[in-house]
This record gives sequence, C-alpha cells and structure tokens, in this order.
Amino acid sequence: MQRILVTGGAGFIGSNFVHYLVAHTDVRVTVLDKLTYAASRESLAALPADRVELVVGDIADASVVEPLVARHDAVVHYAAESHNDNSLNDPSPFIQTNIVGTFVLLEAVRKAGVRFHHISTDEVYGDLELDDPQRFTEATPYTPSSPYSASKAGSDHLVRAWVRSFGVQATVSNCSNNYGPWQHIEKFIPRQITNVIDGGRPKLYGAGLNVRDWIHADDHSSAVWTILQKGRIGETYLIGADGEKNNLEVVGMILEAFGRPADDFDHVTDRAGHDLRYAIDSSKLREELGWQPAFGDFAEGLQRTVQWYRDNEPWWRPHKRAVEATYAAKGQ
Ligand code: NAD
Ligand code: DAU
Repeated sequence: MQRILVTGGAGFIGSNFVHYLVAHTDVRVTVLDKLTYAASRESLAALPADRVELVVGDIADASVVEPLVARHDAVVHYAAESHNDNSLNDPSPFIQTNIVGTFVLLEAVRKAGVRFHHISTDEVYGDLELDDPQRFTEATPYTPSSPYSASKAGSDHLVRAWVRSFGVQATVSNCSNNYGPWQHIEKFIPRQITNVIDGGRPKLYGAGLNVRDWIHADDHSSAVWTILQKGRIGETYLIGADGEKNNLEVVGMILEAFGRPADDFDHVTDRAGHDLRYAIDSSKLREELGWQPAFGDFAEGLQRTVQWYRDNEPWWRPHKRAVEATYAAKGQ
C-alpha cells in the first residue's frame, strides 16, 4: 500500500490516524474532508506536505469521490457525523453523511477495485446492564439506540452487503470510546477538562453511572493499521483496551488532576435514550492479528490529555462559548 485515502482525516480520530501513518509508515496520505464544524485544519498543519494532502469535499459527492478513490490503493473511512447529542437535535446530516456517504464510497471502491476499511462504533450493539458479565463481541446482535448509532449500524450493513454481493475488498472495525488530542470540546472528556480550566464545574448527565470503555486514539490507530495489513476480507474486528470507567470516576480523575475536590461537579439533564454501558471484548483482534494497546493505563493517558488541552488553549478556545451555550439551552 503506497497511497491511502483517509476520509474524515481532519476530525479527531482521523487526524490521529494520519499522524500515526506519517510516524510509523512510508505511505502517502490524501485526506478527504468536508471540514464541518468538527474538523480542524490545524490538526494536520504540522505534517509534511510531501506526505499528506488535504482535499476539501463531501463523501456523498460521487463526482469528487470516484476520481479520488481511483488513484489510491486503499480507503480508510472515518468521515461521519459523530456526536449522539447532535443526532438527537437533528438526525438529518447523520443519515446523509453516515449512510448515503458510505454508499457513495462503496460504489467508488467497487468500480475501482480498491481496498476499503470502514471505521465504526461499539454503539451499534446497543447497551449492557452494569452487572452483565458479557461484553460485546463480533457476534453480538445489532440494537442501536440513537439516530447516530442507527446510522452507523446502517453503514456497517451496507459494507457487508457490498462484500457479499459485489466482492468488495472490505473490513469493518467497531471501536469503543476514544480519548486523546484534537477531540472536539463538545465531547465528554474535553468538555469537562475545558470547563475546569475555565474555573467552572464538570457537567454529568443524570447520575453519572453510565460506563464507557475508554481507548486512546493512538491505540485505535495502531489497531486499524494492523487490520489494514493483516485483516481478513469480509471480517469485522472489535477494538477496545479494557478501559471501562463510569462517568463519575472519569470526572473525579479530571478534578483530581486540577487539585479540585472530587464532588465539585453538577448533575445536569440526562441524554434522551442514554446508553448505560459499553464494553468491548477485543480477543479476536488480539489473538488473530496479534494487536495490543500501548496505553494500558487510562490514568496516565488522561493526564497527558489534560496537559494537551492546557497546552493548546488557542485551538479550542474559539469554540467554547458556543458549545456551552448549546448545552445550556438544553439544561446540560
Ligand atoms: P469527528 O466528528 O471528530 O470527525 C469527523 C470528521 O468527518 C470531521 O473532520 C468532518 O469534517 C468529517 N466529515 C463529516 N461529514 C463529512 C462529509 N459528508 N464528507 C467529508 N467529510 C465529512 O469524529 P471522530 O470522533 O473522529 O469519529 C471518526 C469516526 O470514528 C466516525 O466514523 C465515528 O463513528 C467513529 N468512531 C468514533 C469513536 C469516538 O469515540 N469518537 C469511537 C468509535 C468509532
Ligand atoms: O462508543 C463509541 C462512541 O463514543 C462513538 O461512536 C461516538 O462517536 C463518540 O461520540 C462516543 O459516544 P458517547 O455518546 O459515548 O460519547 P460522549 O463524549 O458524547 O459521552 C460520553 C459519556 O459522557 C456518555 O455517557 C454521556 C456522558 N456525558 C457527555 C457529555 C458531553 C456527560 O455526562 N456530560 C457531558 O457533558
């Protein structure tokens, strides 16, 4: 693989993957990104121009996608509307980008005979009870709860259908919650870190007992690169790093990093349909492809992330007031 097209490569996880490719491989990367509110040109700015090119365009626009796909060896598809709360306010762009956009990409890779890797989420499996001994596996039935997760579930089904019906050379991965640098401050961890930097209080939905299975974005990247190189066509791999924590625990760790009392937060209006718990069993990826996460210690990864937001205030500051106003209007 010499030339890789990364859709959504100016977003949080996509840009971390582009950094990973530049640091760990020799491939040349084209990023195809519409530059929505969630994107950041700055996340790619430090990368060498002879390795990374940014094309601004919409994955749902076949006239942009088809010629671009045809000059690459593989497509890694991150582009999406990604935030559950936004999908509750207006599902429409989620259907357009996550379902129609994936369809357009699949048609392009089908015509050009190009390898495809589809990035998806553990949310397609719905949620688990807090005391359920089972975790999600590749065999867990799909029961998505939100417009976002339903749109991602739809896109996963399209990929599998294009593999079976048309012989498209594709793999799928479903990953748990990512954290790390360049994550938009609408999301849980950066929202709380930046609230505390501003002298405010973290905002916990409901009782704060919902569990997420945290993985550092670098570990997600190394897993995707492993699947691209060694994954079996048509297969799905779950990506996770055994990082289950409830939201209350995460807020406590953030407050501790700033020397603030553990109870210095607000309970706010809960998310409608809020999934209770996600948990990934990544045995298949580890045993079949030999992948291991490098960030074994969530506390250390979180500390580094706190420091990153402290060091990069000019990146997030312009968005903070508007993000908080949107949440405040919903009592969150
Ligand atoms: P993000 O919102 O930070 O970034 C999404 C990127 O896609 C942005 O740069 C945006 O401009 C781009 N984009 C959106 N619509 C587009 C369109 N129509 N055409 C071209 N580009 C478009 O999202 P993220 O958190 O980095 O998530 C990336 C992918 O990983 C998504 O597919 C998401 O479902 C999946 N995922 C995310 C997580 C997580 O914890 N954030 C976990 C598992 C899977
Ligand atoms: O599981 C993977 C998914 O993780 C990805 O598919 C999504 O793209 C990604 O956004 C993320 O979804 P979540 O809904 O789990 O992430 P979010 O950061 O929005 O919320 C994490 C948890 O924190 C969730 O239980 C809701 C809660 N929360 C969130 C915000 C923004 C709060 O308690 N307070 C908040 O202010």
